Amino acid sequence: MDNEGAPPGIDQTKAHPSRRYNYWLGGKDNFAVDRESAETVASGFPTVRLAAVENRRFLKRAVSYLAAERGIRQFLDIGTGLPSAGNVHEVAQEIDPGARVVYVDNDPIVLVHARALLTSSPEGATAYLDADLREPDKIMSHPELHATLDLTRPVALMLVAILHFLTDDDDPYGILARLLEPLPPGSHVVITHATGDYLTPEQYAEAVAANERSGVPFRLRSRDEFTRFFNGLELLPPGITSVVEWRPEDAPEARPPVDKVSMYGGVAYLP
Ligand SMILES: C[S@@+](CC[C@H](N)C(=O)[O-])C[C@H]1O[C@@H](n2cnc3c(N)ncnc32)[C@H](O)[C@@H]1O
Repeated sequence: MDNEGAPPGIDQTKAHPSRRYNYWLGGKDNFAVDRESAETVASGFPTVRLAAVENRRFLKRAVSYLAAERGIRQFLDIGTGLPSAGNVHEVAQEIDPGARVVYVDNDPIVLVHARALLTSSPEGATAYLDADLREPDKIMSHPELHATLDLTRPVALMLVAILHFLTDDDDPYGILARLLEPLPPGSHVVITHATGDYLTPEQYAEAVAANERSGVPFRLRSRDEFTRFFNGLELLPPGITSVVEWRPEDAPEARPPVDKVSMYGGVAYLP
């Protein structure tokens, strides 16, 4: 997308995670500033495109598993990203056309595309909230969320490749607790998160430095830090793994080495 084609209200001078991710996935909904930031990250972590692709594959496997094997029919997907093939409602509604999905993102350009593209099957429903993860109470009390999801029944909360944009000062653990509070037992949580654990100390230092230069706050977290998100929840097999190795039997593509992707994934439920 060139800058002249930008919808009004979009800040084209600041890189945004959704448009950078879109660039890595081969999309066209990004500006020069996003591409520059994306290339800066790639200069310190050269396989970032593969990481984006594998993260997206994990997301689809997780939604299929939840819908097909855990009976989940309601999804709250925070950090939706720009719509692309295999959105959450498409994967879930293939298994049950009655599946209902609320999408949430804070990038206005996602909002523009979401209204047009995130259209549900007639039996199910989708809604889109323009909201920030750092305002969990606003999300959980939003009238459109309550018009779409029945919070007396299990919901899968999806936080896929978003929590690493929260710094420690944002209190990501406290935010997750606020999101979970209104959800009933039997609800599920899906999280992926970038890590430096699979990298050598030199690679780790390069990745951190490149992220700092890229203009988007980013926090790699260790296995212990990632595991803390699941406190009080029951992890489902295979537990916490690289996204590459999570239920790999359901992945038709060859599995790349974990250090090239550097992301943890896990799925758990509220007992
Ligand atoms: C890397 S993309 C991941 C997209 C999708 N979840 C996936 O895994 O394919 C991260 C998304 O989170 C959104 N995001 C980042 N920080 C956010 C925040 N504080 N509140 C809401 N959305 C946010 C970005 O706009 C972007 O669309």
